Order: sequence, then structure tokens, then C-alpha cells
Amino acid sequence: MCGIIGYVGHRSASKILTDGLKCLEYRGYDSVGIAVLNGQNLEIRKDKGMVADVSSGSRFDSLSGSIGIGHSRWATHGGVSKENSHPHSDCTGSIAIIHNGVIENYQELKSSLLSKGHKFASQTDSEVVSHLFEENLKQFPTPLIAFSKTISALEGSYAIVLLSKSSPDVLFLARKNSPLVVGKGAGENFCASDFSALLTYTREFLVLEDSQIATIDRDSIALYDLLLTPKTPSFLTIDWDVQTAERSGHPHFMIKEILEQPDVVSAAFSADVSQVLPLLEKFEKIHIIASGTSYHAGLLFSILLNKYKSGKFANVFIASEYQNQVLPDSNALIFAISQSGETADVLQALRYSTSPHKVCITNTQGSSITRLCSHSIYLNAGPESSVAATKTFLAQLCVIYKLLFGDRYRDSIRSTILASTKHSAKIQEFSKSIITNRFIFFLSRGLCLPLGFEGSLKLKEISYLHSQAYPAGELKHGTLSLIEKGVCALFLAPKTPDATKLFGNLKEVKARGGTIFTLTDDPSFKSESDMSLDIVPQTDPLLYPFSFVVPLQLLAYYSSVSLGINPDRPRNLAKSVTVE
Ligand code: M6R
Repeated sequence: MCGIIGYVGHRSASKILTDGLKCLEYRGYDSVGIAVLNGQNLEIRKDKGMVADVSSGSRFDSLSGSIGIGHSRWATHGGVSKENSHPHSDCTGSIAIIHNGVIENYQELKSSLLSKGHKFASQTDSEVVSHLFEENLKQFPTPLIAFSKTISALEGSYAIVLLSKSSPDVLFLARKNSPLVVGKGAGENFCASDFSALLTYTREFLVLEDSQIATIDRDSIALYDLLLTPKTPSFLTIDWDVQTAERSGHPHFMIKEILEQPDVVSAAFSADVSQVLPLLEKFEKIHIIASGTSYHAGLLFSILLNKYKSGKFANVFIASEYQNQVLPDSNALIFAISQSGETADVLQALRYSTSPHKVCITNTQGSSITRLCSHSIYLNAGPESSVAATKTFLAQLCVIYKLLFGDRYRDSIRSTILASTKHSAKIQEFSKSIITNRFIFFLSRGLCLPLGFEGSLKLKEISYLHSQAYPAGELKHGTLSLIEKGVCALFLAPKTPDATKLFGNLKEVKARGGTIFTLTDDPSFKSESDMSLDIVPQTDPLLYPFSFVVPLQLLAYYSSVSLGINPDRPRNLAKSVTVE
């Protein structure tokens, strides 16, 4: 969702801000803007649209100055328009602010500011911040105190960066429930909503914690709590390199990220799970919490725990429903799975849980989820830029298998993934038939059930084709009424003991005129299919889920590309979903 970038130093701020906004594009946005301060000249340029168009159309490059802020907005309060784009200013044009999150008490603050004569230029919740700071500057002796008073008045979630003529060399930062990091340079400093925008400049980062304030100028970084008590900043080094965050000759990030998965297996299996194994041994009751693709990894985790680890009672929860479905339970071991570590639904579920034992499985060091958990397991998958989760999903599965079975299956999994990446051309061809269908069911059973859900989500997410996943045996309890000529069902059909039942489900669809597609290593499925891809290597039944990971990702990718859609940036979606 919204992206933040800030710079103070000796170089042209507009260039660094524009480049940073390009790096943040993967988060999803609908408008962009920057503010640059040069002495006492504060200029804001912004509009709805993509970074390349707005930055050239509004001549970002013509702004001189070496301190500034930039923002990409994903609309929540107020429509997609130039006025609602960030940065927002005050009544005098002396202040510029950018904000991610939601100011929940903005209406109350706005009414009070309106009664004091403030004029608002947008419909956003964010604009109250600049006017409130303007008001506080009149009342408090220093800009820093005025900033802390402003932040203390806000309710909700925020990552805020403020630039003011009153302190022309300083950026003011604050964070609560929305990520904000400071990047440390030499004679220059940076801030951003995530590391990836700053990897060209620095690897040393300070991750702001909730209810902290920071100021950065070109030579120093100061950290405070809301009462302005100084705090000692502790920096972490991020070892992601810029290249892994670039497309490296591939047409899209998604295909690059799919193809680098053989290496992801090795990296994910190197995760340190030693602190978590004793907990997994000890606890009977396990709650797994996640959203979207991570939920599908969690679903497989829960099936494996219940079926292959005796004495375990695992439940998987869609994060946004966790509070609606259980009472807080301090006797449950919690696993929260989130590649970004910033998914608001997951964070909220973790806050709700009273368990002292919370383990997160995440790809992002220093992310909010790590602060809410007693233990963190890192996926080591490197940066994932495409909105569609691919390599982080595989890494999640690898970490789950490592937790349950140690390194026993690492090499077989790697071979399966490597073999699957070689089937690109066949899957591309297959996708041409898939996209001619108006409705596609993904049907599967057993350990491959979560893969059916994931394949369907991936397809609809980036190709906009209507698709739905079902446990194949459930179809006859209602959904079978939708099957008729022209409706397509894709079966994930590994040669397992469950294959006979799945085969029966296939016949049910076929008898009603449905078109049958299969991904299978089983000849009987092949002969009953309208189209079949024999790209599923025979393997240990426990490992069949891995046989489908890459084919389903490639199927979604090529469907998207054939339909002329940019798979990296599906409409309406964001990489990091920081609102509930
Ligand atoms: O960062 P998270 O793993 O918590 O993200 C959860 C979902 O938003 C995410 O997996 C989403 O479903 C993906 N874009 C799917 O490809």
C-alpha cells in the first residue's frame, strides 16, 4: 500500500525521491507526489497516475534542493485525485507531510481545526497532520515539541514524515502500526516505508518502533519516545542486494521470482528453527494465523500437524476472522505467517492473542510482526517485488517442512522445484486454453488441497479470470449445479491413494459437460482429460504439494501476460496490506 521515501543530504532530493518511488511501485498505488525544500522555498508536485507519468508531467526533476519527501498513495479516505495525493500542506504552504495508515480521529481533529479557521484542500484524513502541526507551532517553543504534540493527538495508524520551513534541514518522523525505517548514509540520511527503496544507498537501517519519533538531518539521527525522552537507536544490517531487488533482464519480477525458486529452497531450509522446535514439541494446541497466500501455507501446516504429528490439535485461521472465531487463549502456541510481516489483519490478531508463545514466519527482518512475537523464523527468500507471492510461498512451505521433518526432504524438494521450472513452455501453451474459459474451478484433495486454493487465488489475482477452488469431494454438496458445458475444472491429480476418489469427482464433472484439465502423473486421469499436462514428477506422497507450486504459478503468470495484464501490478491490490 502507500509508499514513503524521504531524503536529506547533499544530492538532488528530487532524483532520489523519484527513484525511490519507482522502487516502491510494487506496493500498489494510484497517485504520487514529492515535496522539496530549498532554503525557504517549499514546492509540492503531485498528481494521480504512475510514477513515470507524474514525475515527467509535473517535472519533478526541475525541483532543486537536497531535502525532501515523496509518497505513493493507495486511496482510502477520499477518491483518487490530485488534491488527495500526498504531500499535503498547511494553510501557509510552509509545511509538507506524507502519511501511511489511517487517522481514526481525523474528523474530530478537522472540526476543531476548521473552527480555528484552517482551510483544507483535500478529503483525506492525512491533511489534519499538517494543519495540526501548523497550529502547534504557534503554541510550543520548538518544532520538535510541536511535532510530538501533533503526533500525540493522533489515533489510529501512521507512518508520518514532515518537512517544515521552520526547521529547513530536518525531517520529522513518527510511527504507529505502519512501517517506517531510517537508512543511515554518510553525510546524508534517508527514510522509507521499506528497505527496498533504499538498498542502492545503504544497508544500515533503524526500524522505528510504535510510538517513536525520530529526526534526521544530513549528519545525525535522533530517536525519542512520544514524551521526547531520547532513545538509543540500534541499527541492523540488511544483506539483501540491489540485484535481487531488480528484474535482471526478465520482463517481470514475477517470472524472475518464480525461476529463482530452486535457490530459495536451500535458503529457506537454512532457517534457524532451533528455538521453536521445543515449543512445537511441548504444545498440544496450535493456532496458525495468516492471510491470502500465507494462509494457504498455514492450511498445509495445520493438515500436516494434525495428520502426521500425534497429539497435536492445530487450527488455521484467516487472520481477519481470528478475533471473531476464538476467545484469547494463553495455552495455544501461535504461528503467524506473513511474508511482509506488516499485514494489518495478522498484526491485529497477534495483538488480540494473550498467548506468551508466538512464533512468526516472515521474510522481513525488523518488521512489525517480529515485534509482536516471542520467536521469529526468517524465510531468507530475498526481496519479493511482484504483488503476487511466489517464492515466499515456497519458502513458507520449506520452513514448515523443516519444522516438521528436519532437513530430510530438502534435496528432493529442490529437485522437484528445479524440474518444474523447466516446464515453462508447456505451461505457457496450456495457459492459452485456460484463458478461453469464463469460469475455472480448481479441484483437489488431501495435501494438495491448499495448492488448489493457492493456484486459484494466483490465477484470479493477476489474470482477473473468475476462478474458485474447492475440495473436489465437496462439489456434489451444492456447487456441482454450476457445472455445464463451457465450465472448466482443473484437477490437481497426483498418483496417491486418494486418486480413485478424485477420479470419481472428475467423472462427476465430465458427466455434466464440464471441460476437464489435469495436472497429473496418473495415466487414467490423462485419458479422461480434454487437456492434460504430465509435468508432475512421481514423488513421496508427502511431497506432492511441491510438484504443483511452480506449475500453478507459471499458469497464472502466462495467463496474465497473454491477457495483456501486468502480472506484477494487479489492479486494486497492494503488496503489503497495512489496513484491516
Ligand atoms: O505479507 P503477507 O504474507 O501477510 O500477505 C498476505 C496476503 O496479502 C498475500 O499473500 C496476498 O494474498 C498475495 N498477494 C497473493 O499473491
